[in-house]
Amino acid sequence: MGEPYPHCHLNGALLRLREARISPLDRSFLFGDGVYEVIPVYAGRPFRFPEHCARLARSCGEIRLRDPHSRTEWAALCRELLERNGLAADGKVSPPDCYIYLQVSRGSEYGRNHAPLPDLTPTVFAFCAPWPERDAAVRSRGVACVTAIDPRWQRCDIKSVALLPNVLLRDQAAQAGASEAILLRDGELTEGSSSTVHVVIGGELRTPPDSWRILPGTTRSVVEELLEALGIPHQASAVSAAELRSAEEIWLASATRELDSVTTLDAQPVGRGVPGPLWHRVHAAFQTLKRRLEGQPW
Ligand code: PDD
Repeated sequence: MGEPYPHCHLNGALLRLREARISPLDRSFLFGDGVYEVIPVYAGRPFRFPEHCARLARSCGEIRLRDPHSRTEWAALCRELLERNGLAADGKVSPPDCYIYLQVSRGSEYGRNHAPLPDLTPTVFAFCAPWPERDAAVRSRGVACVTAIDPRWQRCDIKSVALLPNVLLRDQAAQAGASEAILLRDGELTEGSSSTVHVVIGGELRTPPDSWRILPGTTRSVVEELLEALGIPHQASAVSAAELRSAEEIWLASATRELDSVTTLDAQPVGRGVPGPLWHRVHAAFQTLKRRLEGQPW
């Protein structure tokens, strides 16, 4: 196995991924009892770091798990991980973009106890992976999506590692040759299996409001700031299945996709079947923003 970035963080130590071990009794393994974050790192600088930390702390709080680290400690952990993998900015050469995965599980205990024992020590794991760069052809063509009924629980606002529904939905999309499954609950759009969905209707961008139905996206907030700066009208409001199907543009936003344009939905063209004019503007502004922040404090 040749991991491009071989060093990971596990419970306070930096070690080789292939040597990292956790107990099979870890509750994230037995129950999916843990939470996580995925943070883009552009040229050695984690993007929207405070927002990712705040969401991790919130996810921990919502599952009654003590966040094991302060923001300063998470930053030190990430900095050390990037440095050890040769991914930190050193002022001379720009390191390649990557992303950091952080996971906090409730920890391990003997037995299989649905109700966790009190005062377990959380398991903290982090590693870096290569940035999933989109090639220019995919960007200019856009991506295909399928719709599916949203089968998930009533706390989709928690970034839980229990991702079986998301995994099955994404596999369903892949089997259909699509990039993402766009989910509908009670006749309304919720989100993608691992992305926020934005929809352009009548020249205005609409995104379902934050609620238990969706994850509060960090990329979403970047998109909203860019729309504001570009003077493009936008609002958080419900989107019906019919509105989704007749939208002028559909976008997917996530930490690792950034902003994808959806050009077919259930094999039907979205708008003219090519990335739309608003997507071009916001995507270009996103690229400018992320490069402008390089080298700045995070
Ligand atoms: N997923 N909704 C879901 C269900 C997600 O899993 C994600 C991100 C998002 C977008 O959130 P953000 O913009 O903060 O990445 C929305 C990550 C990338 C993942 O699980 O790999």
